[in-house]
Parts: sequence; C-alpha cells; structure tokens
Amino acid sequence: MKVTVIVGSKSDLEVAEKVRARLDAFHVPCEVHVASAHRNPDKVDRLVRDPETDVFVAMAGLSAALPGVVAARTLKPVIGVPLHRGLGLDSLLSVVQMPGDPGRRGRPRFGRERRVARDRDPGPQVPRARGRPREVPRRVARGAARGPGELVVNDPAAFVDEAVLRLREEVPERTIVAASGGIDSTVAALLAHRALGERARAIFVDTGLLRAGEVEQVRRFFAASHLPHEVVPAADAFFTALAEVTDPEEKRRRIGAAFVRVFEAEADRFHCDRLVQGTIAPDWIESGGALRDTIKTHHNVGGIPSDMRLKLVEPLRDLYKDEVRAVARFLGIPESERQPFPGPGLAVRVTGPVTRERVERVRVANAIVEEEVERAVAAHEMGRPWQYFAVLLPVRTVGVTGDNRVHGEAVSVRIVESIDAMTATAMAVPRPVLSRISERITRALAGKVVRVLYDITDKPPATIEWE
Ligand code: XMP
Repeated sequence: MKVTVIVGSKSDLEVAEKVRARLDAFHVPCEVHVASAHRNPDKVDRLVRDPETDVFVAMAGLSAALPGVVAARTLKPVIGVPLHRGLGLDSLLSVVQMPGDPGRRGRPRFGRERRVARDRDPGPQVPRARGRPREVPRRVARGAARGPGELVVNDPAAFVDEAVLRLREEVPERTIVAASGGIDSTVAALLAHRALGERARAIFVDTGLLRAGEVEQVRRFFAASHLPHEVVPAADAFFTALAEVTDPEEKRRRIGAAFVRVFEAEADRFHCDRLVQGTIAPDWIESGGALRDTIKTHHNVGGIPSDMRLKLVEPLRDLYKDEVRAVARFLGIPESERQPFPGPGLAVRVTGPVTRERVERVRVANAIVEEEVERAVAAHEMGRPWQYFAVLLPVRTVGVTGDNRVHGEAVSVRIVESIDAMTATAMAVPRPVLSRISERITRALAGKVVRVLYDITDKPPATIEWE
C-alpha cells in the first residue's frame, strides 16, 4: 500500500507533511510532491501514472482543480482534501473517487476521457485497495485538513435534495424505515419522509436491549417530528432468540434475523417490499463482503439473513459519521452530537449470556456512565468523548458489603475519543469523574457488581465495543 500526496503549491506542504506523519504511524509508505495542475500538468500526469501508488491524496488548496485533474487521469482511489472554506462546489464534488465501492457513483466521466482512463488503467489491474487501509488515508487526510482550514466535504442541502430524488426513484410505492432512534436511521427516516410523505413509515423496534428511557425518548421525538411511525414491542422475541448464545457474532446474526422478521411482518402490514435503513460507509466497510475484509459481521448489514424478502434502500451509504451529523444538524435533529449506539444494543454490552437480569444491570451502569460523563462535559471538566458506556463482564469476583464477602460481576467503563470509529483512543478522564462512576455503579448494583474497571486500550489493538 503506497499513498502519493500531491499538493498544488509549496504553501500547502505543511498539511501534506502532517498526512505523511500520520500515515507513517500506520506504516503506510507515502510520498509527497508539489505539482500544480495549471503550471506543470505534465508532472501531475507523471505522478498519476506511478504504478506503485495505490491511493492518491490531492490537496485542493490554491489549486482547487487539482483533485479533479488527478481523478480524471486515474481509476485508482483519489482523496481530495479541500484546505480552505469557500472552494467551489464543483471542485468538492469531484474530489473523492473510490473505484469499486458499491453504491458510489463517483465522478461522472464522459466520452474520450472515459476511454482514455480505461485504456491507461484497465479494470483488472487496478489494485484492490481493501476497505481498511483505504480508509486510513481518507480519514487521515480529513483529520489533517481540519487543522489549517475547515474541511467541507459535503454540502448538506445539496445532499438532501439529491437523496430525496434518489429515494423517490428507488421507492416507487411505499416503504418502511428501520428507525433505531440513532442519528443515522433518524436521518434516513426524515429523508424518506421528505421524499415520500405518508408512503414511508418508520418502524422502531423495542428489542428489550435499549438504554434507559430510550423507547419513550424516541417515541416523543417521532411524534414531535410528525413522522409516521410504529413502535413494535418485541423484547420476548429477542430474548428468546438470544437464549444461551455467548458468541458475539452469533448474537449479531440472531439479532439481525429477529429484526428482519419484525420488519417483514411490518412491511406486510404496510403493503410494501422496501426497507430503508441508515447504513453508513464505515458500517459496510467494516462488515466484510464485496471488496472488504471481514472484521466483524457488523452493524446493520451483518446480521441480515440471506432469505430476507425486503429490498434494501440505503440513502446514507456513502456518508461518514461527521457528514451524517452535518446532515442531521441541517435537518434540525436535536442531539445531532449524540454518541453512536450499536444496532444489537445492550446484547453486545453484556459479554457472555444475554439474560434480562444481566441486560438490566448493564442498563443501570450505562445510565450512570452517561449521566456522569455528560455532567462532567457540561461542567467543562472534560471534552465530549466519541463514546462512553458500560460493559458487563462475566467474571465472578469478590467484594465486601459490610462485614460480608460477596461474589459479583465486574463492569468495564469505556470512554473513547475518535474521529470516525475506525481508530480510537481511550480518554484520559479526570480521576474524580471515574471515582463518581465507580461509587455510583457499585452502590446502585450492590452485591451484583462489585468491581468497576476503566478500559485503557486504544483501537487498534482493541475495538471500541467489547464484543
Ligand atoms: P468497534 O467495536 O468495531 O466499533 O470498534 C466501531 C463503531 O461501530 C459501533 N458498532 C456497531 N454498530 N452494530 C452497530 O450498529 C454493531 O454490531 C456494532 N458493533 C460496533 C461501535 O459502537 C463503534 O461506534
């Protein structure tokens, strides 16, 4: 895997060097070159033909056209990084080219240009840059670009207009929308509502695996947004499906299947065969499939049984979390900054068997972590983490209550910083915040949870979730 970074002028070198430094940390070889699209197009041409390069990063600084010029000359992935606000939309739309990504339409190519590109770089010879390494440069480049200039990858208004048109094409009649209350699926539900009105119905499944107060909160939000919706109580079905299962991937498969059966039944009731869901780019990139390594049978897509009768519609497929948040803010969704919560819910936050009692324990512990972190953030004791939650561990450990020794389980507290969940850092949380969390959890779950641990592992090597 080699990355070539091209900047149009020396004044942009500083950012390019940051990209190189970050790639170094991932052991990804990287070369940086200065080549203006206007002054020395031949040099750009030469650089782009480098057979060793797998991914190009083109910095759109003074030379806003550079990413487009690079993308026009290769079929390899091109990551455009706008360095300043106010670059023309055209230059931004042309900047990211990810060949082979299902669903990504990429930059349109026309006539001779298309032929030339194909001749120069025929399909089978395009190196199959795989999901994760390919993500590294994009993420790194975007992170780096946040320094000197604000990064504006997508224009939420333009995205919404386009998504509405596309949804109308993809849903000729009616559809249900898988709505979990999270940002991604709420954005998907609102887009579907904009596009289709009453012909879209949001389905919120109460799996029994949700966080404290979540069902009521989501119900209130949907009602306030005048979103046609249905809350389906299905905890029994989910706990039955999960009985005796301890393997995380099996949990996800069972949960995915249980979700699909609920959605199929709801689709029948609504007389439709489409399911809109809020899958975003990292979901399928990390899920395995087409071009990708299987890291986890992840997210929404992992657990979908092959005999599912519904056709999936995924309007957010190409977006990254920060882009979805920008769209969420644009649509006026409150709590657009809310932390991500996995689709399989608390089932993957109790390691080991999923019983109602263990889920209730982690629900209580999790609510305490959320309250204390949010309080500390509001009091400026710490920055807002990317995710902060509790995990129940299936260990038998000794504690004391009064004069008695008791055996209970342990809770691990996970608080991480991240840009997009592809990598993460365990946060240096002020000690008093951790102490309050520990005291409250062991008091609220006295005798049941007798030990609270703080997880200090970054991702990689650990993942954010324990399962
Ligand atoms: P990991 O644990 O792989 O997680 O570092 C990366 C991000 O994905 C979330 N996550 C999930 N989300 N279904 C989801 O919808 C899942 O099965 C799932 N597993 C992990 C995790 O919370 C983090 O934001």
